[in-house]
Amino acid sequence: MDSEGSTSSRQPEQPAGTPQRKPSPLRFLVPAALVLLLAVAVAVTSPSTRHNLRLSLRSSLFSHRLLSPGLRRQVLRLLSPAPWKRDRSVGGTGRPTSPRPPCVLWMAPFLSGGGYSSEAWSYITALDRSMGEEEDPPIRLALEQHGDLENWEFWEGLPEGDRELAIRLHGTECRLAETVVVCHSEPGAWYPPLFETLPCPLTGYAAPLAVVGRTMFETDRLNPEHARRCNRMDAVWVPTGFHVSTFVASGVDPSKVVKVVQPVDVGFFDPSKYKPLALPAEMPVLGSVLGNPNVGPGRKVFVFLSIFKWERRKGWDVLLASYLREFTTADGVALYLLTNPYHTDKDFGNKISKFAQDAKLEEPGDGWAPVYVIDSHIAQADLPRLYKAADAFVLPSRGEGWGRPVVEAMAMELPVIVTNWSGPTEYLTEENGYPLPVDRMSKVPEGPFKGHLWAEPSVEQLRALMRRVVSNPEEAERRAARAREDMIQRFSPAVVARIVVDQILKVSKAHQ
Ligand SMILES: *[C@@H]1O[C@H](CO)[C@@H](O)[C@H](O)[C@H]1NC(C)=O
Repeated sequence: MDSEGSTSSRQPEQPAGTPQRKPSPLRFLVPAALVLLLAVAVAVTSPSTRHNLRLSLRSSLFSHRLLSPGLRRQVLRLLSPAPWKRDRSVGGTGRPTSPRPPCVLWMAPFLSGGGYSSEAWSYITALDRSMGEEEDPPIRLALEQHGDLENWEFWEGLPEGDRELAIRLHGTECRLAETVVVCHSEPGAWYPPLFETLPCPLTGYAAPLAVVGRTMFETDRLNPEHARRCNRMDAVWVPTGFHVSTFVASGVDPSKVVKVVQPVDVGFFDPSKYKPLALPAEMPVLGSVLGNPNVGPGRKVFVFLSIFKWERRKGWDVLLASYLREFTTADGVALYLLTNPYHTDKDFGNKISKFAQDAKLEEPGDGWAPVYVIDSHIAQADLPRLYKAADAFVLPSRGEGWGRPVVEAMAMELPVIVTNWSGPTEYLTEENGYPLPVDRMSKVPEGPFKGHLWAEPSVEQLRALMRRVVSNPEEAERRAARAREDMIQRFSPAVVARIVVDQILKVSKAHQ
């Protein structure tokens, strides 16, 4: 439900001027019998089919004309095997006789953007940093693109260091028999995939040392096919206790389900490092700044920020109903929505006006409190400054896997008002934020997960909580300070890297 596909199209033929590559040495040395069995089905076991797979990736790359030649060269390296591949564990260690630490091949939509992508990046960077600080790193790390289409604009927008990291880790040489494969995606992408993607694990479940599925879900259950796919894994990592319960209740073997929380980069999302982004103040999509005594030189507006994809699950209707009923222009507040389309067009202004009409909200005498939409791309590098420009973060979602913007806002020391159900219950308390009570559970009305249950957050309670953070700044500040402390304690990259390494060692020992 959470995957954001990119729109890059694939062209079948090889672009002119691309040199033929020699078949390269196989990166994954699969036992011969398996090769025989799987050669037909699986790309990576045969140099020529592997070559074709790479070509299809490369042609999609070449169809993206916006990519500069330098970036294009980078991606080509990432999508090509050898000759710059190095096995960092060979040579230089001075201990050739000691057994090599297990390899971890992390397969995720690294080049796609979206929820799983940013989560995977957070693990990879945390693990790499943490291994870099060890004299004898307990694991070796490799990565591969899997699970969604590539989105070259996303790749282009990544910090240079991240791109270099991806290329370096893509070059780690691992023997499949010594490798723990982490399939980080929705279970439909796992071997055999239900849609076109590089399979994970590449050759089925037998060849790797062990296979881990990393996934999550936003409703009260998994569908039976996903549960079945989870049970083929040696372990299933989920981010929260909520998922442990829902996965087990849906039939996933309890001995396989492990809670592995998600890191948040508390060094990057550190409010002491940033000045606020200048927010647009002129053109709200609803309401007006005219007649607002709190707006003007030297006056401070209280800014609510929300970040979400425009879909029903995110509770934008609950947010607008609460905000528009509770506040008017005279309150000196503003609501900023950083949003992007999800199977809809981009005319959010129209949708918001229409919602106010359809919901029969009555415009207050002194006018709607202003609502602003930021629908242009905000680069990752500017995100902390956006949080810094806000006074509170609010997300009355009906269900969240984890709630990445929520933990980012908490790391940025913002008070957060977020639905007290699903993923956020892992970290949100009345000490570090404002858990929003739920009125009742309701049925998902449409789509492949129709009939699952999710939460209906309370409009009345949300009104009260939004009013409360505006009126009680000391309390809000206290909770927000605690929020950052909790993020550092529980989810900083070093802390989570240790958790992941422990789990990798555990699953690899169990299968040696
Ligand atoms: C949040 O939900 C938990 C149960 O999941 C409950 O114990 C707690 O009281 C709730 N908090 C609020 C503020 O509603």
